[in-house]
Amino acid sequence: MANIPFRDLRRQYQAMKPAVDGAIADVLARGRFILGERLEQFEAEFARYCGANYGVGVGSGTEALHLALVACGVGPGDEVISVSNTCVPTVSAISFAGATPAFVDIDPVTYTMEPGLIEDRITPRTRAIVPVHLYGQCADMDPILEIARRRGLHVIEDCAQAHGASYKGRMAGTMGDAGCYSFYPTKNLGASGDAGIVVSSDRALAEKLRALRNYGRTEGYAHPHKGFNSRLDELQAAILLAKLPHLKSWNDRRRQIVARYTQALTELGIVCPIEAPGRHHVYHLFVIRVTDRASFQAAMHAHGVATWIHYPVPVHLLEAYSDLSESGKHLPLTTSLASQVLSLPLYPELDDHEVDAVIAAAKRSL
Ligand SMILES: Cc1ncc(COP(=O)(O)O)c(C=O)c1O
Repeated sequence: MANIPFRDLRRQYQAMKPAVDGAIADVLARGRFILGERLEQFEAEFARYCGANYGVGVGSGTEALHLALVACGVGPGDEVISVSNTCVPTVSAISFAGATPAFVDIDPVTYTMEPGLIEDRITPRTRAIVPVHLYGQCADMDPILEIARRRGLHVIEDCAQAHGASYKGRMAGTMGDAGCYSFYPTKNLGASGDAGIVVSSDRALAEKLRALRNYGRTEGYAHPHKGFNSRLDELQAAILLAKLPHLKSWNDRRRQIVARYTQALTELGIVCPIEAPGRHHVYHLFVIRVTDRASFQAAMHAHGVATWIHYPVPVHLLEAYSDLSESGKHLPLTTSLASQVLSLPLYPELDDHEVDAVIAAAKRSL
């Protein structure tokens, strides 16, 4: 029987051990752990990779979103348009900024924000839109940007699942005011702990973010802003610097595996992810749709293949956000999708035999 874990981060470390160990040892020997050279270097290299002018390293993807919203002036009394079909931190960031999330439903093919539904949710209090580039594919950004421009709204991209993804040749995170990335260990580019970054080409915004992540301080003891402590530390920055040159080949390998999965599973009648025209999908997750999910998932597990659900409960139905449950009446697709999605193992270190074993297990599980 197969024995395929949903993820195995040890494989990447084993392949990169000398580079990662060397990066850690170098930081320890230098004795500078916060706001040092490695962070500056990583911020510059990741911003260049995205095609943005600035990068501001922060403590996590959630903090990247939270601080980007605050830096854009979003706060109590404001509303922010986003999706409920996302990982909860998208919404945590909006509520921690003091604003109220307003959800729109999703596109039935990409499962990302449906731009045609945005205008109905705009009120005099709306200040920003947070599209989520879900599972590794960009939301349909042109109409979102057009609405934002016309209605005077900020656009903050949630790129936590989209390192290397692009939309009509533009990289995730470079289309709105700011792009917010997570380097949670399982992401396409993952740290060995929590880390995140905001990329932007707006100099004033980047400077404000640099202050906000560091107690609101600009230089010396000048504190023009009420800030916070949310910094990407030197150890994580050094590890990310060692990994960044591999991101493209890791994403390419993900795409290769997806091609193999898609061909075989589509023949079985399973609904596979679709790369929309003009978009470069980096497949952070491979999310299929099955109607009898519980029995399919149980059978996959019985055949030795671990699977996961992203996400079983839309955010508006979580206990903490029961005040937003009213928005559920606008979200039929989000609500129905949650009972059908299932993620299969997908990481660059999966070998072809394992990919074939996942396919064989799927055949037997239908
Ligand atoms: C879509 C999305 N947004 C935000 C986040 C938050 O990132 P982090 O876990 O680094 O805070 C994540 C990942 O965890 C995510 O998947």
